[in-house]
Amino acid sequence: MKTISTVYSELKDILRKLYSSREAENIAKIYFEDKYNIKSINDNIFPPEFSKIIIEDIERFKNGEPVQYITGKAFFYDNFFKVDSSVLIPRPETELLVDLAIKYAKNIKSPGIIDIGTGSGCIALSIAQKVTSSEILAIDISPAALKTANENKDFLQIRNVVFTRSDFLKKSERDGLGDFDMIVSNPPYISPVEKKYMTDSTLKFEPDIALFPDSSNHMIFYEKIIDFAENNLRKNGIVICEINEFRVKEIKDIVSVSSFKFDIIEDMQNKPRILKLWK
Ligand SMILES: C[S@@+](CC[C@H](N)C(=O)[O-])C[C@H]1O[C@@H](n2cnc3c(N)ncnc32)[C@H](O)[C@@H]1O
Repeated sequence: MKTISTVYSELKDILRKLYSSREAENIAKIYFEDKYNIKSINDNIFPPEFSKIIIEDIERFKNGEPVQYITGKAFFYDNFFKVDSSVLIPRPETELLVDLAIKYAKNIKSPGIIDIGTGSGCIALSIAQKVTSSEILAIDISPAALKTANENKDFLQIRNVVFTRSDFLKKSERDGLGDFDMIVSNPPYISPVEKKYMTDSTLKFEPDIALFPDSSNHMIFYEKIIDFAENNLRKNGIVICEINEFRVKEIKDIVSVSSFKFDIIEDMQNKPRILKLWK
């Protein structure tokens, strides 16, 4: 029988062939904690019932699959979210969007909020949990993503979010969504030319529809969000969107022809990350 530390070292050795040393360490730690709830690497026996699972998972690691899909969960803003290949893995950068949204939502009485492109539901559910007076409509084009989002809603026992299928790029569908005090979104914003900067693991396993707008115009979501906000944002409302750090000029060009004031907020790495709009 192998000990926990032996199995852990074997996994790290395999991961080191695929990732940097630091990443391999981090992934092995996440895997042991999130899959087996093993938080301390010691010389206790590695539970034999996990041996078959880890052999299968090692094949998935070798294939480049992200650890979050292998464990089936990702930690984001105080909670674990169920994730699978139907949804983008929530990114730590997106926590800044949630932080700002919560801060503003707390100043509004019973805020009506829409989350556009909700994926796992991580943004909508995190806001709903902290601002319990909010009423959130969270939309996505993908029925599979909405199923995952609803599972997260049930698991977290959150009531003030409704998930609905809607294609935001279709005006007829956008027009029926209603009016809101706050519009939040982390939309698909990567242009195909940026594929060369992305990891193989993201390209191979995360849904294309979550990454690349289904249009030759990679800024289309920002154009449609601003257009939607012009008509559907209530008085004193606010728009908070995650942006592509390499597209600030294009964002500014789009916003400058709108009626909104705007700010671009940097993340902890000093990268432009959030677009905030208000009147
Ligand atoms: C970048 S992901 C964001 C997921 C999640 N909000 C997050 O931050 O982790 C973008 C999401 O937009 C959805 N999406 C793509 N095209 C859409 C459309 N036309 N209408 C509505 N949602 C769309 C995708 O299915 C995906 O879940």
